Amino acid sequence: MIPFSPPRIDDDIINEVVAALKSGWITTGPRTKQFEKEVAEYCGVEKFLAVNSWTAGAEMLLHWFGVQEGDEVIVPAYTYCASANIVVHCGAKPVMVDVNDDFTINIESVRKAITSKTKVILPVDVGGLPVNYDALMQMVQDPEIQKLFNARTARQEKLNRIMVLNDAAHSFGALYKGKRIGTSCDFTVFSFHAVKNLTTAEGGGICINMPKPFDNEELYKELNIYSLHGQSKDALAKMQKGAWEYDVIDAGYKCNMTDILASIGLIELRRYDAQTLKRRKEIFEAYQNAFSKMDWAITPIYKDTDRESSYHLYLLRIKGFNVSKRNDMIQRIFDKDVSVNVHYKPLPLLTAYSSRGYDMSDYPNAQALWENEISLPVFYDMSDAQLQEVIDAVIKSYEETI
Ligand SMILES: Cc1ncc(COP(=O)(O)O)c(C=O)c1O
Repeated sequence: MIPFSPPRIDDDIINEVVAALKSGWITTGPRTKQFEKEVAEYCGVEKFLAVNSWTAGAEMLLHWFGVQEGDEVIVPAYTYCASANIVVHCGAKPVMVDVNDDFTINIESVRKAITSKTKVILPVDVGGLPVNYDALMQMVQDPEIQKLFNARTARQEKLNRIMVLNDAAHSFGALYKGKRIGTSCDFTVFSFHAVKNLTTAEGGGICINMPKPFDNEELYKELNIYSLHGQSKDALAKMQKGAWEYDVIDAGYKCNMTDILASIGLIELRRYDAQTLKRRKEIFEAYQNAFSKMDWAITPIYKDTDRESSYHLYLLRIKGFNVSKRNDMIQRIFDKDVSVNVHYKPLPLLTAYSSRGYDMSDYPNAQALWENEISLPVFYDMSDAQLQEVIDAVIKSYEETI
């Protein structure tokens, strides 16, 4: 069976994990700090904070900004549940908007959804393709939109506009206007979950890029403390001679990354461009080459003038298929020992959200994308023979389904 997205676990990873274990320091420590430094350099961002998942990091940011009951956060209807779940956890309302044909949030729909209750916009780089960040950042700074913003907390007053928190769970290393992502939005949050391009098993991280008068160095220190129960000293600092005493500045969270996870991340990062992205791009190009010749295939956009994907998910669509035909085709692909997936069943179709009153008919584009989408396997260790096997299985399964 060809798997969908297994992690690349080789001796380099194993040796580094063993070295972390043998070092005697397994929680947040020197390897995490080194990982943070190297990711910050890679993304060209002043400060990067490593955490233990996208979900924990992004939710911490919503709480930090003071998002609570009565507030609204704009999210695309077409995303993973985590993007909206964190809003629900804060007691706020996820306001869902429709998406474009390239799976990114529709900017005009965002504008229409903004109210005096909007505190945050949370765009998602589905499949690794960056959203039009500049349009969003210009929108939140538009005086007409800014006038609507109702600051309730000191941090909201300091920003004095809607915050843009980029769900970059898929897009580590993607390019926007020639630069690696991480510096276009207020916060850019990555996931390093096991299926992601760069993994630490579970994990995530935050590019801190708030505008003045915020000081991103100070913000890093604040969020670092916030990610560790609000403790004024982390475990390593407390271990120093006589330095046992600490204060708890605020009732914080517990979502720090461990050095065992960071050891995987360090190896993954150092080979990311030269090996990981290179191979993923080759796989995308082979799929594109094969399927763009098929008049029944709608191939994904992964590169245009302003954007280049991180080549995370190859989102193939089948012209004219409905859900039942798509599912039939998926079954046939699996019968040929190839694992595929669907990204995503839109949020309004999930019980958690349909029961909260969201209605799929309000998101016609998301519906059109979901009903004929099939994600194909992409992973570093995929051989050329396996790649050809996937292509053949997809074409044959299509012919059997129609
Ligand atoms: C779009 C999106 N956002 C958020 C997440 C959550 O990431 P994590 O598992 O690191 O919390 C995922 C995970 O798959 C995702 O696909």
